[in-house]
This record gives sequence, C-alpha cells and structure tokens, in this order.
Amino acid sequence: EKGGHDHFMLKEIAEQPRAIADTLLGRVDEQGRLRLDEVRLPLGTVDKMIIVACGTSYHAGLIAKHAVERWAGLPCEVELASEFRYRDPILSSGTLIVVISQSGETMDTLMALRHAREQGSAVLAICNVNGSTIPREADAVIYTHAGPEIAVASTKAFLTQLVACYLMALYLAQRRRTLPDEEIAGILARLSKAPADVEAVLTTVEPVRELARTLKNQRCVLFLGRHVGYPVAMEGALKLKELAYMHAEGFAAGELKHGPIALIEEGLPVVVVVPSPKGEPTLHGKIVSNIQEIRARGAMTVVVCEDGDTAVEPYADALIRVPAVPTLLQPLVTTVPLQVFACELASAKGLDVDQPRNLAKSVTVE
Ligand code: M6R
Repeated sequence: EKGGHDHFMLKEIAEQPRAIADTLLGRVDEQGRLRLDEVRLPLGTVDKMIIVACGTSYHAGLIAKHAVERWAGLPCEVELASEFRYRDPILSSGTLIVVISQSGETMDTLMALRHAREQGSAVLAICNVNGSTIPREADAVIYTHAGPEIAVASTKAFLTQLVACYLMALYLAQRRRTLPDEEIAGILARLSKAPADVEAVLTTVEPVRELARTLKNQRCVLFLGRHVGYPVAMEGALKLKELAYMHAEGFAAGELKHGPIALIEEGLPVVVVVPSPKGEPTLHGKIVSNIQEIRARGAMTVVVCEDGDTAVEPYADALIRVPAVPTLLQPLVTTVPLQVFACELASAKGLDVDQPRNLAKSVTVE
C-alpha cells in the first residue's frame, strides 16, 4: 500500500506532481479562462479577505496572501484559527473569510468558520476531504485533489492548497478585472507546468537525503526566507519539529539583525530559501547579504536556490537547486527538498516518520 516506499510520507511526496495536476484538472478552459463555478459567492462586494487556518495550512495561507494582493488587488490578512476565534475580529459583509484545511475536521478552524458566519461573513473553504465538516458548513468550497493523505506530516495536501489558492487569487482577478485576461492565461499556463517542475525536483533530491543524514546529531536547525520564501522557511521548520523532534525555527531573513542572529554559532545549520534572481533583484541581493552575514558568524549554510543562480555559490556550504519558476509560484518547488530533508533526518534518527509522537492526523479538539 506504500507503493514500494518506506513510508507513506515518501509516497505522498512522490505523488505531488500528480496531485497538482489533478487539482488543476478541468478548472481552466481552452481560452485560458478559469472555471471555478463552485465559488458561487457575491464577490463583487468583497473588499477584504481573511485567511484562517492551522499548521501547514496556515503556511499555505501566508503564501496565498501574496497572490491575492498582487493579482486580485484585495487586502488580505492571514491568521491562525485558534487566535482568530478568541478575539473579536472586525468583520463586515464585505469581508470574505477563507478557511484552509486538509482534513476538513480541524476543530480550531471549524470554530473560526462558525464564528465568522455568525458575524455575517461569507466563508469559502479550501479542503481536501470531500464532504467533511468544514466544506459542509462553508458557503462555498474549492476542493484540492491531493487524494488521501495518510502520513501525519502534510506534504501533497500543502502543494495542492497552494495551487487552489493561486486559482482562487486568479479567479478573483478575473472577476474583479484587476489583471488583463492574457496575463491570467499566462500565469495559468505557467502553473500547468508545475507538475513537471516538481517532478524535476524529485529527481535531484538524493544529495538532500545525504545531507540530512549527516545532520542527524544536530540539536537545532534554522530556516530563513523572505517574501513567499518566509512561509516556506516556517514550513521547513515545522516539518523538522514534528518529524525529527529537533528545535527548528523559520525566520524572516530581514528580522535576523533584530535578534535571531544572536543564535548563530559555529557549525549551526541554517537553511536559506533564496528567491529567484530574475524576480525581484533587491530581494535576491538582500538575502545574499544575509547568507554572508550568518556564514561570517560560523553558520553552515544550506542554500535552496534557482538553477543558474551563481551569486549565492561562494557562500553556500551545501546547495540545493530548484527549477526557475516565477517568484510567486516558487514555494511549489522550494518546499519539496525541505520535506525530503525532514523525512530523511527523522528516518536517520530511527523515528516513526508517518506517526510522530504526540500528534494526530486531524486535530478534532480545540
Ligand atoms: O487538516 P488541516 O489542514 O486543518 O490540519 C492543520 C494542521 O493540523 C496540519 O497542517 C498540521 O500542522 C500538519 N501535521 C503539519 O504537517
């Protein structure tokens, strides 16, 4: 049932190209227009979006914010469900709440959904499990088509959540006319190549596995990113915590100098998610200086960067290459080596990859 893999997690990592393709399937017509008929909501009056989720799904939301604001021109906040629920969020009929949940049963997210609906906001769910509680109670749902995810650590569900979020942002752009049709069609055409991009990453992860094995006795690993790379860093750290029981944190690289740089000591592994040099040059330049700063203080730098990015090479103790994709779509490729890294490190420590201690696949208590 694990399809020749040692763990369900590895099987699910390998299934990601297919999961992405399935999530895109049937949602774009021949003219390159999005067909998301399931989003039957009064989008014309929406003036703000709040995305609410937990764990890995929250990280998908943090990435979605960039796409929603850039493409659809809609202000977007992202909040942990357990926090959103227990304050008094200011919601109006123009606020669209988007809840993201793989299982559709996460109690924190469900309570947030109910809270929002009680205040009169429309709720759109992005969910992987058909007919689960969250999509049943939401006003509309975009299903991800990742297929059943068995391993506790979320992998293929996360990448398909990203795809669903990109589709949602582009659909809003189409309806709100914030992007020309040709530009939407162009982004969708690029998105349709994502399964091949992820497949390409999967064929080059062997060195990542070797690297992970050499780090199994480390007590701590830090992850740094900027822009959409920041939530990817948080996701890499979450995977390492839950699977390898190691202290791991994802930081915004620009925040380093405001405190976390004091953590850097000789030999500390720091994984840095580097944005495309072709995307936003200032962003790239800034992170290259961050890598120099931490290396000068003794960090062992593990650099995840685009193919052909030579500027980072002199400062990388280990390099993980990913295919070139537009900045906003980059999390689809940069997350994959971090999943493999955490999985391999946990295996090297002899831990139960699919069923980490103290965790359940769906958290049905608040
Ligand atoms: O089913 P959900 O997406 O609502 O679950 C949310 C989190 O519990 C989940 O993503 C958790 O963080 C994963 N174990 C992370 O790998």
